[in-house]
Amino acid sequence: MAHNVLLFADPGIDDSFAIMYALLNPKINIVGIICGYGNTPKEQSVKNAAYLLTLGQREDIPIIAGAAGPLSGTPIQYYPEIHGKEGLGPIKPPNTIKNGKVYDFNKILEIIKQYKENLEIVSLGRLTELALMFIIYGDEVFKDVKAFYIMGGAFLVPGNISAEAEANFYVDPIAANIIMEKARNIYLHPLNITNKAIITPEIIQFLGENSPTPFKPLIKPAFDYYFQAYQKNVPGIQGAPLHDVVPLMALSNPDLVKYIPRRVKVEEFGNAKGKSSADFRPIPDPEPPEMIDFIGMEANIQMFIVDFMEVFLQGDLQSR
Ligand code: BDR
Ligand code: CA
Repeated sequence: MAHNVLLFADPGIDDSFAIMYALLNPKINIVGIICGYGNTPKEQSVKNAAYLLTLGQREDIPIIAGAAGPLSGTPIQYYPEIHGKEGLGPIKPPNTIKNGKVYDFNKILEIIKQYKENLEIVSLGRLTELALMFIIYGDEVFKDVKAFYIMGGAFLVPGNISAEAEANFYVDPIAANIIMEKARNIYLHPLNITNKAIITPEIIQFLGENSPTPFKPLIKPAFDYYFQAYQKNVPGIQGAPLHDVVPLMALSNPDLVKYIPRRVKVEEFGNAKGKSSADFRPIPDPEPPEMIDFIGMEANIQMFIVDFMEVFLQGDLQSR
């Protein structure tokens, strides 16, 4: 049976590849997308998600407007050089895309109650909305959710937005810490594995020519924009890491990632803001079992590439 996924995202180019991947993968059934600030302002995230759902003929999937900024109230900086002014590189969703109905926050609760223990949460952006759910509805809100698959953090490697921190944790470190403390059954997909989830321009060229899916026209222009930014930031890089595809693929393909159980902490303030850490000694200090998270430490990159290509070449868009 397909995994029912409630998706939190900030599309964004790698988020958009993740959304397309999920829509095309028969093992994943998206039951709602929460679109928040992050790579773009939240209104733009909503538009981009609506565009992708329209292209995929999945307007039945509810879009929920997320947060406009982090819990600290800190002003937000966007990164148009990586994701484009409007979040899809050179692509501007046509004005003819109607957003349809955009739901408010309460819809999240409704979906959680509807799917009960048949639901997994995947988070690809800042963790503000998930933390707000705990703040508004209390610690019990996610008690039935099977697992949280999250893109965030960086362990034993440098950050990408600061020397120490990964972007999703850095921009709302308070929210990231709340989630690490309160959510149960977290599978974390940090930079130490997602940086290696590189798709090359050759693969994209092939998919851009051969994908039988309605996303075909987006594949190459969106990727090329993102790849150019990576080439500037990481001299010599052979392709671009599609960070946000990793947690979704890990959910549908349990052999992809090897996890190590440790308690994760996130620095909330100061120079190391957003830095994630864990006790990696072979025998760590004891922690209460409910505080243990599963940290992705190894990913099978060959499997990542093959799975990514297969999904974009199969074109299965049946509504489920
Ligand atoms: C993460 O930050 C965002 O910019 C990407 O979409 C990804 O979720 C990588 O650090
Ligand atoms: Ca993202």
